[in-house]
Amino acid sequence: MAQYTRISGSVALITLQNPPVNALSAVVRHGIVDTVKRALKDSKVNAVVICGQNGRFCGGADIREFAGPMSGPPLVPMIHAIEAAQKPVVAAIEGIALGGGLELALGCHYRIAHSKARLGLPEVTLGLLPAAGGSQRLPRLIGVPAALDLITTGRHVSAAEALKLGIVDQVTEQNARDLAVEFALSVSGKPLGDRRLSTRPCPPLPDADEFFEGAMARVRQHARGAIAPVACVQAVRAAASLPYDRGMERERELMATLFNSGQARALQYCFFAQRVVGKWSLPSGARWDNSKARLVCKAAVIGQGTMGRAITVALAQAGVSVVAVETQEKQLMEAKQAVTTMLERASKRKGVTPPLDLLRFTADLREVDGAELVIEAVFEDLALKEQVFHQLSAVCRPGTLLCTNTSGLDVDRLAGCTRSPELVVGMHFFAPAHVMTLLEVVCGPRSSPEAVATAILLGRRMGKVSVAVGNCPGFVGNRMLKPYLEQANFLLEEGATPEQVDQVLEEFGLAMGPFKMSDLSGLDVGWRVRKEDGLTGPGVDPSQPMRVRRGHRYCPLPDLVCEQGRLGQKTGRGWYQYEGPGGREARPDPWLHSFLEEYRTRHGLTARRVDQDEILERCLYALINEGFRILEDGIAAGPEDVDAIYVHGYGWPRHQGGPMFYAGMVGLGRVLEKLEHHYRALPDVPYLQPSTLLRRLVETGSPPMQKWREVIQNPRSQL
Ligand code: COA
Ligand code: NAD
Repeated sequence: MAQYTRISGSVALITLQNPPVNALSAVVRHGIVDTVKRALKDSKVNAVVICGQNGRFCGGADIREFAGPMSGPPLVPMIHAIEAAQKPVVAAIEGIALGGGLELALGCHYRIAHSKARLGLPEVTLGLLPAAGGSQRLPRLIGVPAALDLITTGRHVSAAEALKLGIVDQVTEQNARDLAVEFALSVSGKPLGDRRLSTRPCPPLPDADEFFEGAMARVRQHARGAIAPVACVQAVRAAASLPYDRGMERERELMATLFNSGQARALQYCFFAQRVVGKWSLPSGARWDNSKARLVCKAAVIGQGTMGRAITVALAQAGVSVVAVETQEKQLMEAKQAVTTMLERASKRKGVTPPLDLLRFTADLREVDGAELVIEAVFEDLALKEQVFHQLSAVCRPGTLLCTNTSGLDVDRLAGCTRSPELVVGMHFFAPAHVMTLLEVVCGPRSSPEAVATAILLGRRMGKVSVAVGNCPGFVGNRMLKPYLEQANFLLEEGATPEQVDQVLEEFGLAMGPFKMSDLSGLDVGWRVRKEDGLTGPGVDPSQPMRVRRGHRYCPLPDLVCEQGRLGQKTGRGWYQYEGPGGREARPDPWLHSFLEEYRTRHGLTARRVDQDEILERCLYALINEGFRILEDGIAAGPEDVDAIYVHGYGWPRHQGGPMFYAGMVGLGRVLEKLEHHYRALPDVPYLQPSTLLRRLVETGSPPMQKWREVIQNPRSQL
């Protein structure tokens, strides 16, 4: 709702009241329409101030309303009526003015912001565009280039930047509402003329056609198939080239297309999925956010290689003091230098002091004494990790949380090496750990809710989407990746090339195809795991056929590529060739093509044409099928968790929702049918066999995702 009060004799104060973010739901829009009418009619009122309760102006349209039929007054005429008012209307922006919230403020004649406020038009991140006049008013206020940047990226700007851009008229350190009231009194009676943004012309743009063509090309390149950013460019172009009314028509048309698109549904689902994942529940009924998370002020990181360094950076950036331990003298010196540089660079960008005083580097493990939480990031070697956990258990104070950054080893084995297994959890960061926003928090069967809660909270403070997962090889993300990568390898045996497979999956929207991704991570990582697993290397029985392991189809291609010393980007050769070791641009490699041909000939395989649909289905449906198994096994709390992991950690396109959401969009029946088809063709690939859960969901009429939990009802849940 919106509360109406009269203040300082002649100012009507309208306060939006809809906790927690004062979203513009139907009841709030009703309230605004009614209170604005009342203020304009009241002869004692000379000016109006609109603010939000609890220090938040407005978080925009109520996203939950998008799922159903819209009711209540529409935003466009409501904002238009405010703009057309004969009395000055001032927006007092505290906290946030986002989406419809900023559009409402743009309909006001003046905007006063608190210095800590953030403003933006994030609709594009929800698959939409600012369709309450935002795409037409903002370019008129701040010019096309700046408006296009905000609208196509959805980024939030600080009050200081908003002032510089001209979005707000004043910024205050004090209460924005009080200043807005004072300001409103000072401007009452003054002509409102060009304060009405819809009446202003858009600032002229030299070479407009060239500008918009360039902008469109850049946006398309970044969009990875998302349609909203493209529509945003079209809407701003309309603002720049058409009169306001016609621009509004164009805004409406474009919005109608976006609003009903699957992409908008997927992106809105992602918004809520990201928030749901922090709310997992334990079988005992205890929720982590009810169990007491400890606030960690002092941590230690063991191992200062690729991951350890970046975790150290991320901890220090979150204000946690860190003891960084590394046994190799050379690595220790390099790590100190690298961490310092990373922190200095990031701090320079933000204009803050680098938190170097929070760091201590040492070769002596005993110095971790005093840390409240330790993150182990040594080599992926179970015996070494067990030894480190033994040592940690001996040197750390009782009650210290011991975490491992393992990519997939048994967290409970490590817990078994300590005095307090309930204090051991996995904290699986993704490379580069100071950039990637995903953290899998691995709950061992003995991990206490308090330990899990503490790791989740710490992850959040580090800016991560923390997802609780169960303890199994590869946890959620890497477990699903395995069948996906294997299918990609099989496709090479059957006639595809790495670039063909990558291209199809990148056109689908993945940040990187499987072969480019493997080259980036290093082909030796998987090679080492397969050797340890007895799938390749000297331990394998030589009488076994090369393409069969444990009775199932096996593709030795990645092993053979590694044996050639081709380990990916780091060696300048892998599935692709690079300019040199560390080079980034993947170029098709004729050597690899001949190598594949020779391999096929040697194994009597006839290359065939592999089409796009087959690549998509076999790679993605294999991954999705494993996702259903993970839900069945209780390794993830729900489909949202799986999806958040893929969107935040594996470059899955947000506009496709995540693998489980995507399966729902394709149709569970269709996914099942295709898996059955491919499993019939490849009966020696067991993970193509459709999961029991997928079958049950299809049998129960493919219910919507919110209902999957009822079908899962997992007695085996590990969470
Ligand atoms: N509509 C409906 N619900 C919203 C909402 C909106 N525009 N914005 C936030 N919420 C809900 C969240 O789902 C969450 O609900 P929950 O407590 O049931 O999980 C709650 O409000 C708090 O949001 P949260 O994101 O957890 O709080 P925050 O303080 O970290 O961030 C915002 C606040 C406003 C910055 C963030 O919620 C946001 O970006 N909202 C979307 C803004 C937007 O895109 N508006 C344009 C809509 S077209
Ligand atoms: P890395 O080889 O770059 O670094 C490991 C570091 O640990 C080395 O500097 C080594 O000297 C040090 N070390 C070894 N034994 C030690 C000991 N006893 N005490 C202190 N330091 C010791 O490895 P990485 O890529 O950083 O991987 C570390 C862990 O993170 C592994 O478990 C790995 O599976 C996991 N991980 C890696 C990635 C990735 O992409 N690299 C992603 C997620 C998780």
